[in-house]
Amino acid sequence: MDLKKLKITAEKEIKKAKSLKTLDEIFKKYLGKKGKVAEVFADLKKLSAKERKKSGKEANLAKVEIEKMLKERTEELKKELIKLKVKKESIDITRPGKKLEVGHLHPLTQVRKEAEEIFQSMGFSVVEGPEVENEWYNFDALNIPKDHPARDFWDTFWLKIEADIRGYQRGLTPKNSQKLLLRTHTSPVQIRYMEKHNPPLRIIVPGRVFRHEATDASHEINFYQIEGLMVDKNISVANFRAIVEEFLRRFFKAKVEIRLRPSFFPFTEPSFEIDLKRGKGEWLEIMGAGMVHPNVFKACGYNPNPPAGGWQGFAFGVGMDRLAMLRYKINDIRLFYSGDLRFLKQF
Ligand code: FA5
Repeated sequence: MDLKKLKITAEKEIKKAKSLKTLDEIFKKYLGKKGKVAEVFADLKKLSAKERKKSGKEANLAKVEIEKMLKERTEELKKELIKLKVKKESIDITRPGKKLEVGHLHPLTQVRKEAEEIFQSMGFSVVEGPEVENEWYNFDALNIPKDHPARDFWDTFWLKIEADIRGYQRGLTPKNSQKLLLRTHTSPVQIRYMEKHNPPLRIIVPGRVFRHEATDASHEINFYQIEGLMVDKNISVANFRAIVEEFLRRFFKAKVEIRLRPSFFPFTEPSFEIDLKRGKGEWLEIMGAGMVHPNVFKACGYNPNPPAGGWQGFAFGVGMDRLAMLRYKINDIRLFYSGDLRFLKQF
């Protein structure tokens, strides 16, 4: 075998090798037990003593050289691999970062937070109640007994399970068994709060409510209200009007024009609806309100008779969506629930 040729091909292969595994294979191919150099040594037997000596020397030299080349290339490759690894794992801190889009609060949440701040500054506490309510709190305790026609204004979604009157699952009897529903207004929280607290009191109750009705530009089946309740001695409609006007003035950051229209709610007497002037001769109803009905006080265990040292109060329920529509000049309530980012990104 031509040792010169062998060395040249080995050298070529070694230089081309790109991995330690390939180098290992080359080692086996040339220097392994059955490798090409071993073959040369085996062939030496066939030669004369003189030639054997000469070729043996050459073969040894070739072996040493190939070994050296392999060693050098191995070192070189190891260094290259380390460099590559470092390059792959390092971070270029000068590269501009990926911009994370920051979200923002939904316009209705913004309105709720602002309304809460204004009322809190006027001494009102913020209270919450359950969205799944029972018939007692949503209707009966608010002076709306079964078969009262007013139940038709607040048609809702009834649940198929029942609970006891206070909302817990005790042993249900016909007396304490209550049908559950999605609350139609935030007014039931008036009762829940008054049952547990003594007057005088001032609260607002922001929250989600539900109605089983057809939707249009100003009606949704799911919307938000803020209930207000103030109970004290000598509270009158004048107090109500002052608080509401102050709230609206601060909320809209302008003097607003409102009108009180006589209305009917079973849980207030007298009752009215408040409209806010939108444009020339155009009004939008924003809330229902009135002086708390004595029957509501009775349902909560309050003395409703002012001459006998009893309590008086006003309550209101304002549509948060309507406030937001007026504030941002939105003409369709359904946009709030559309999930349309083109709409939401404007706030
Ligand atoms: C009530 O819900 C009474 N609980 C309000 C109240 C509270 C009266 C305390 C007296 C004392 P009404 O159904 O009118 O009333 O709703 C009150 C407000 O909620 C409305 O003025 C309106 O702003 C808003 N609202 C009513 N229905 C819808 C609807 N489908 N979509 C959007 N907003 C609505």
